[in-house]
Amino acid sequence: MADSRPLVLGFETSCDETGIGLVRGQTLLSDALATSMAEHERFGGVIPEIASRAHLEAMVPTVHAALAEAGVGFADVDAVAVTSGPGLTGALLVGVAAAKAYALALDVPLYGVNHLAAHVAVDELEHGRLAEPSIAMLVSGGHSSLLLVPDLAQDVQPLGQTVDDAAGEAFDKVARVLGLPFPGGPPIDRAARDGDPRSIAFPRGLTGPRDAPYDFSFSGLKTAVARWVEARERAGEPVPVADVAAAFQEAVVDVLTAKAVRSCRDHGVDHLVIGGGVAANSRLRALAQERCDAAGIVLRVPSPRLCTDNGAMVAALGSRLVEAGVAPSAPDLGADSSLQVTTVSV
Ligand code: KG4
Ligand code: ZN
Repeated sequence: MADSRPLVLGFETSCDETGIGLVRGQTLLSDALATSMAEHERFGGVIPEIASRAHLEAMVPTVHAALAEAGVGFADVDAVAVTSGPGLTGALLVGVAAAKAYALALDVPLYGVNHLAAHVAVDELEHGRLAEPSIAMLVSGGHSSLLLVPDLAQDVQPLGQTVDDAAGEAFDKVARVLGLPFPGGPPIDRAARDGDPRSIAFPRGLTGPRDAPYDFSFSGLKTAVARWVEARERAGEPVPVADVAAAFQEAVVDVLTAKAVRSCRDHGVDHLVIGGGVAANSRLRALAQERCDAAGIVLRVPSPRLCTDNGAMVAALGSRLVEAGVAPSAPDLGADSSLQVTTVSV
């Protein structure tokens, strides 16, 4: 029998990945991705104008790739979802314009969604419906926050966030200090496997008794790593890259997991979901599992491929909105580079 659940086509262009995904209900059908990462690498960060142009070039071929991979045609699409923010304005605009054009041409509803909520929603494609409420920890290149999620389709409440750098940003900056490529998360994750996390005692930001319990700070840690490396270099001594990577990574994931578990305990919530690019980190996944097991918390983390930006996460949240009967976006839907996490759909 044919699956009658709505088929949602999702567009993600908030940063440097052009992601197009197709989801039916909570079933992932395809997830096509084009990235302009190689074009940004020599600058050590994403250049917005280059990313926007690359989205424009990749858009139509990536949509076709997603449809082909899913074995469906345009006529099968029941709704379109698109990241409306937060992210780079020019990059977001390419996705919003394309999604509007497809929705209009196909005569289907359009849902502008929040990129951060989509990082949480993607977990439903692998692990089924989120428990309500859940605590969500979002750790990406631009954001680090703890959220109480009573209802992912319409009620996301911020508990805390970073007061300076995002967790992913810290990985990217420390990688640069260590001469590792951009983005820094994956090479630090790999280098750390050969290092000793206890070899250097790096600071754990905002973990004092009077500090905000659910806020994060990674800028002091980043500076401490840079100073440590500089001192070595000045002394003409070799920098033990694997040890620095391991000790830095341990400082980040120690704080993230401790605060996530504490927020679950304080709020009487026994389900934690972690999303965003940094959730791909192998040590974060292992330590979160260990600490959640010890605290009796059920942990859910998407597979690494779905942690970093992709189109399926947008389709997954779109699908959730369709199911919940949330009203589609108005035709004048725009891009909002600083969309707040509390606004799940626009
Ligand atoms: O969610 P994402 O793909 O894009 C944003 O919305 O920002 O996250 C990208 C961030 C980058 O900072 C990247 O270094 C980090 O996620 N990242 C990782 C790993 N894979 C990606 N950080 C630590 N360990 C990883 N394995
Ligand atoms: Zn992201």
